[in-house]
Amino acid sequence: MYLTDAEKRILDGESGEPQRLALRVLAKLGEACGAERMVEIVSAHLVASSYQIAGEAGIDIYSQLVQQGAKVKVRTTSDPGSIVFARWQEFRTPADYAARQVKIAELLDQMGVIPTWTCTPYTTFNVPRFGDHLGWSESSAVVFVNSVIGARTNRLAAYVDLCAALTGRVPCFGLHLPENRRGQVVFELASDLATDFADHYFPALGYLVGQIVGDQVPVIMGLRHATFDQLKAFGAASAASGSVALYHMVGITPEARTLEEACGGKPPGERIPVGKRELANVMEQMGAFTDGPVDVVGIGCPHASIDQMRRYASLLDGKRVHPNTQLWVCTNVVVEEMARKMGYVETIERAGAKLMVGTCHNDCPLGAWNFRRLVTDSGKFAYYTPTTVGTQCVFASTEACIQAAITGKAERS
Ligand code: F3S
Repeated sequence: MYLTDAEKRILDGESGEPQRLALRVLAKLGEACGAERMVEIVSAHLVASSYQIAGEAGIDIYSQLVQQGAKVKVRTTSDPGSIVFARWQEFRTPADYAARQVKIAELLDQMGVIPTWTCTPYTTFNVPRFGDHLGWSESSAVVFVNSVIGARTNRLAAYVDLCAALTGRVPCFGLHLPENRRGQVVFELASDLATDFADHYFPALGYLVGQIVGDQVPVIMGLRHATFDQLKAFGAASAASGSVALYHMVGITPEARTLEEACGGKPPGERIPVGKRELANVMEQMGAFTDGPVDVVGIGCPHASIDQMRRYASLLDGKRVHPNTQLWVCTNVVVEEMARKMGYVETIERAGAKLMVGTCHNDCPLGAWNFRRLVTDSGKFAYYTPTTVGTQCVFASTEACIQAAITGKAERS
């Protein structure tokens, strides 16, 4: 692998031990993946900011790096932590566990990481531009910035993201190269579906696409319009049920103005028709409606935007969450502050819902709640929470989720 003179000097230790070690890791990764060179990045995003992911090993690694004077070289943000920093007691987090997460936060602060604590850093202080090379982890964020913004990042593993942050580089392979960004599998929406595409079909379609393509690049044809939040929900679901890191929606995402452009000028590969039946089947798999009380409702995965907070407030205005049900809304501190100024937080909290700021159901230890049944509008929650929270999951529209929180029961939307 070709290294510049500056990179060779880093490997010789000229910039300090943390950078030397980080570049060594990246060079080994690049060699294993066939990279010919490094590419400089504009920003990094770290997934091992959460104690649930980093564990004690993370604390040891970060402590050693801080002692050695490690500082991030590019704009770097943190993924959700494992606690609601301002109110972890309300979520029954054990005190010693919270203390470990706070320790990680202190160490990341010392390295210069911006404490966004969010899976949607692009709604805060880490907003890439088209064509930027990045060193990001967090599957839902990676797929969003690749697909919706047209930035370029592989789906980095925990700690490799930190190596990228410390050196400002990543090995140039995978989605950094235009030839690997071509669409490979084309999904054609049936015409009746395309004209009547409900909001909750986006995570369902993402889930279906991820199951089929794995880590290939899917192309979606037939949608006329998609909002920021719908693209976010689609991508997060596809990255959870599969490992999609880039998708194209013809006429909607920036590298797919036409089918030809989405496929990089090559003939499209496999074509798969999708109709209402396929979507109904996948929604059953994501979490079929069954009788019984609802313990917890999870919305805001990926972290809610200001538009979603407005929508939640309007759906909850004048309503009351059922006394046996928890309604938790996940978001980041930047959106929370703005939503507070705009009165949405007051409306949401007056209804009895709680804000999970800087974390989510999936990242937080929830054993003390003994939840058995969760309702969600998120494809990513539907995929992970049966394992992480240990609940049976019901997938529903946002409106049906809020209705379930109010009645304490799931009802088909
Ligand atoms: Fe974000 Fe947690 Fe969902 S990290 S994408 S809210 S599972």
